[in-house]
Amino acid sequence: FGLMGYDPAFLNTANCKSAITYIDGDKGILEYRGYPIEQLAEKSSFLEVAYLLINGALPTPKELEQFTHLVTHHTYVHENIKAFMDGFRYDAHPMSMLASTVAALSSFYPDAKSIKDEQSRSIQITRLIAKMPTIAAFSFRHSMGLPYIYPDNDLSYVANFLAMIRRIGTATYKAHPTLEHALDVLFILHADHEQNCSTTSVRTVGSSEVDPYSAVSAGIGALYGPLHGGANEAVLRMLREIGHISKIPEFIKSVKSGEGEKKLMGFGHRVYKSYDPRAKVIKRVADEVFEVTGKNPLLDIALELERIALQDEYFVKRKLYPNVDFYSGLIYEAMGFPVEMFPVLFAIPRTVGWCAQWEEMVKDPEQKIARPRQVFVGSKRRDYIPMDKRT
Ligand code: SDX
Repeated sequence: FGLMGYDPAFLNTANCKSAITYIDGDKGILEYRGYPIEQLAEKSSFLEVAYLLINGALPTPKELEQFTHLVTHHTYVHENIKAFMDGFRYDAHPMSMLASTVAALSSFYPDAKSIKDEQSRSIQITRLIAKMPTIAAFSFRHSMGLPYIYPDNDLSYVANFLAMIRRIGTATYKAHPTLEHALDVLFILHADHEQNCSTTSVRTVGSSEVDPYSAVSAGIGALYGPLHGGANEAVLRMLREIGHISKIPEFIKSVKSGEGEKKLMGFGHRVYKSYDPRAKVIKRVADEVFEVTGKNPLLDIALELERIALQDEYFVKRKLYPNVDFYSGLIYEAMGFPVEMFPVLFAIPRTVGWCAQWEEMVKDPEQKIARPRQVFVGSKRRDYIPMDKRT
């Protein structure tokens, strides 16, 4: 990565060795530890996929039972976390609350600094996976001005999260197997995606040998951005802005003209130059959810927007296809989540990928602290000019 390797997109060409997730962007292939995402989405569960990503192999029934028991019994947070979260403004964005509160967890678990200790790393990873839904649900209820609901450890991972959200909108959440299954599949699809912006942030911060809570908090910050995990929130705003199928040609025209640097949110990808395989699965999940919740009225605009874009030279030439964020927000909205919660619903499952990648990095004997090189393009050497000589 010498000066000749300079790339304006910072870290864009920095390579990293990993055995966790494989992507072939041209063929639209995504595999977790060698298993195709389509098979995992159809046959596995989120906690089984979490075990696979972290440990590198599918669990035996006993291993899955032990892992599930461990995660289930670490869902509570210290009571002081509630006081910490009460300090946020009434309308604080849940992603901002999530990033800050996860960082604060490092002060509750000082043993997390022993990152060379495998036992300690394992318990911190379990805590992060287990507590993320709790903190996410607390953030949601804080933003709704509602009291927090404690985890119910008799429920599955997803059902527990939905129960802690309980009041979505005005309705009281009622356990619904179809919605729980749909969210479990969405969590599988979002669990990891090799060296994306947020995972690179976790690896970069983690390479300083800081605790995993501080490293994961950096990942949440990166995921909050509208070009990354914030895209699913931006897609819904975009579809609402378009408002009607008849307005799509005008919107596409404004994107192509570069007006206000407008982008077709939920389209395009740094690696996929073909259809994001996750988007295909999400479209099927959408059908399953809309059976129960009723079709999201914005779906027709999304489908027509996709149809037109996939035939438009501008998008075809640039190999811009729907990505994981194009349809996920429609499902979350149909399930009753406000748009602010959409990136949070990305952060919960991606915590597994961040932890798996962090663990792999910490265990790598060749790993050094991240220190990207630069190409200096500033002023040549010059002498100081006294104030009275400056014009
Ligand atoms: C995620 O990395 C990951 O794996 C991320 C992720 C994960 O699981 O972690 O997959 C999750 O972040 C998905 C992406 C969600 N973001 C969006 O949907 C936001 C909209 N998409 C774009 O901002 C963009 O496509 C990116 C950021 C996703 C990728 O950008 P690239 O690869 O840097 O693309 P680029 O800027 O090099 O674009 C090439 C051309 C440019 O036009 P020209 O300068 O050549 O004329 O394509 C254009 C871009 O302007 N372009 C778009 C576009 N995306 C790229 N034009 C309109 N709409 C878009 N969405």
